[in-house]
Amino acid sequence: MIQIRNLSKTYHIKTGDVKALDGVSLDIAAGDIYGVIGYSGAGKSTLVRCLNLLEIPDAGSVTVDGKELCRTENGKLVRLPDRELNRVRRGIGMIFQHFNLLDRSTVFDNVAYPLKYTGLSKEEIRDRVSEMLALVDLSDKADAYPSQLSGGQKQRVAIARALAGRPKVLLSDEATSALDPDATDSILELLARLNRQLGLTIVLITHEMSVIKAICNKVAVLEDGKVVEEGNAYDVFANPQAPITRKFISSASALGKLETLVKKGQVTADGGRLIILTFSKDSVGDALISAISRDYGLAVNIALANIDMLHDGALGRLACVVKGEPEKVNAALQYLRDNKVGVEEVAYA
Ligand SMILES: Nc1ncnc2c1ncn2[C@@H]1O[C@H](COP(=O)(O)OP(=O)(O)OP(=O)(O)O)[C@@H](O)[C@H]1O
Ligand SMILES: [Mg+2]
Repeated sequence: MIQIRNLSKTYHIKTGDVKALDGVSLDIAAGDIYGVIGYSGAGKSTLVRCLNLLEIPDAGSVTVDGKELCRTENGKLVRLPDRELNRVRRGIGMIFQHFNLLDRSTVFDNVAYPLKYTGLSKEEIRDRVSEMLALVDLSDKADAYPSQLSGGQKQRVAIARALAGRPKVLLSDEATSALDPDATDSILELLARLNRQLGLTIVLITHEMSVIKAICNKVAVLEDGKVVEEGNAYDVFANPQAPITRKFISSASALGKLETLVKKGQVTADGGRLIILTFSKDSVGDALISAISRDYGLAVNIALANIDMLHDGALGRLACVVKGEPEKVNAALQYLRDNKVGVEEVAYA
């Protein structure tokens, strides 16, 4: 649905150049909920704004639903003429952290706004707005003003407005960052439902791993304008490669506290080995811990545990202290690896 190739963008400011995007390439398939995660300043908003050319990249190409919006030709950026660009833009909805609603207009008028000048009749607009408000469970708020709504309700209005033109793609830039945890959950559930119900492709920008975990099937990790890791969200969670990805994952996991607990002396290897075990959907059942303790004569103490429910299934991590004869411990860890359990020795213990 969206192909991004070698996208680059540098901002020239007084204090020097800022390379916001540095050769980004991504493929987003129809029906994906594609998460892009990165710290502040990583280039996330720049990337998402380049997808509908709200921001003009310096180089690279962007293709949305088969239409090439821009490409580099002989070192120069060539882009679609405005008329055609506007047509493609109608197929791309966008939502933001601060909702960007018209405060002096009712919920109905906010949702109707993008339907102006589209040639729809008054009745068609009324029907479409009602349909959109029903879709986001806000049928009873048509006459309310944004100031009378909660943050979560405001974001629902923004979603209804973004979908009013029946786009195939929804771009979401930190849409849940200003919301409390309950409202965040309900907006994420809504996005997941719209993805299923309408086949909507969603590009979801966030700095929170919990958001990726909740609904994304794919993820790309952005650092200093570069994609440092990408793939199936489950695989990235089960087997993260880049240090920044590990940091994001541990920030959203009970095991993120392990290093602090070790430093405080509240968890110690205590003559054994402190190991993190990862049980993915490929691992064979939960009897493995009792099996290694029985068959290799080991003592296994669980220090911390975390289970994540991802789009593709559950992923469990255990931090445990394993004690026993050194060769037996090695053999037991090999047995776990053979059964597709991830085994990682904790270096700082
Ligand atoms: N219009 C602009 N002019 C100059 N520099 C900019 C502009 N927009 C972004 N930048 C710079 O480009 C880099 C990437 O910014 P961007 O907004 O894409 O980051 P982000 O990942 O969305 O961050 P955040 O999580 O804080 O929203 C930053 O260093 C930022 O200061
Ligand atoms: Mg941003």
